[in-house]
Amino acid sequence: MAQPIGLGIDIGGSGIKGAPVDLTTGEFTAERLKFSTPEHHTPEQMAEVVRQIAAHFPEAADGPLGVTFPGIVQNGVIRTAANLDDAWIDTDARALFTKATGRPVRVLNDADAAAVAETRFGAAKDVPGVVLLTTLGTGIGTALVVDGRLVPNTEFGHLEVDGHDAETRASSAARKRDGLTYEEWAHQRLNRYYRVVEDLLWPDLIVVGGGVSRKADRFLPLLDIPPPAVPAALLNTAGIVGAALAAADDGHNAS
Ligand code: BGC
Repeated sequence: MAQPIGLGIDIGGSGIKGAPVDLTTGEFTAERLKFSTPEHHTPEQMAEVVRQIAAHFPEAADGPLGVTFPGIVQNGVIRTAANLDDAWIDTDARALFTKATGRPVRVLNDADAAAVAETRFGAAKDVPGVVLLTTLGTGIGTALVVDGRLVPNTEFGHLEVDGHDAETRASSAARKRDGLTYEEWAHQRLNRYYRVVEDLLWPDLIVVGGGVSRKADRFLPLLDIPPPAVPAALLNTAGIVGAALAAADDGHNAS
């Protein structure tokens, strides 16, 4: 039987990247393609990039296509876009990307997609109870998984902590902006953030993803919180893999 291949495309605050994914293993079957995206890319400009990425991987042309977005996505419609152009708000991204690529598309939140991948193949696989995945990048994305099932569109990255929108102080971008070392970031920002989250949710496990999870050994051991915190196993490929898996779960013709 032919290997089932899906295509995942991950729209982030600074880049948009895609790769074909072997749905049975979660591995990329070709090198990913990445474009930088200016912050104020309009939905139409972004749809053109999605089209180009989809066209670049003909081997995945007949498989499911999933696209992540760094904001709330309800039934394919974008509801928030904290780090992208406001023109996204209330855009029907599913319709837009379907028109651009000529094929059905599943659109979901980026952290939710990462959680789908980590639950299937990574750090949250077979973990019972409440798992909180956080992605530390341009913003803070969160996904809540309860006994293997995703509760979509949680936005704990925007909790108010000490009078601030949490992601503006504890994201990886905030660390760089404020010139903090990993140690300072962990002690001054992450511990405070995770304690607030922990008081509200009492997760059994915290999975830390986003590009910075590659450097997890520099800050995770410094976290002083009760639940175990582990790095995402798929590192920053999780969004792409999870997008393809979520689209496959929906079936090709899911609307
Ligand atoms: C958005 C989330 C997103 C996260 C990571 C936040 O600003 O509100 O929906 O998951 O950034 O991209």
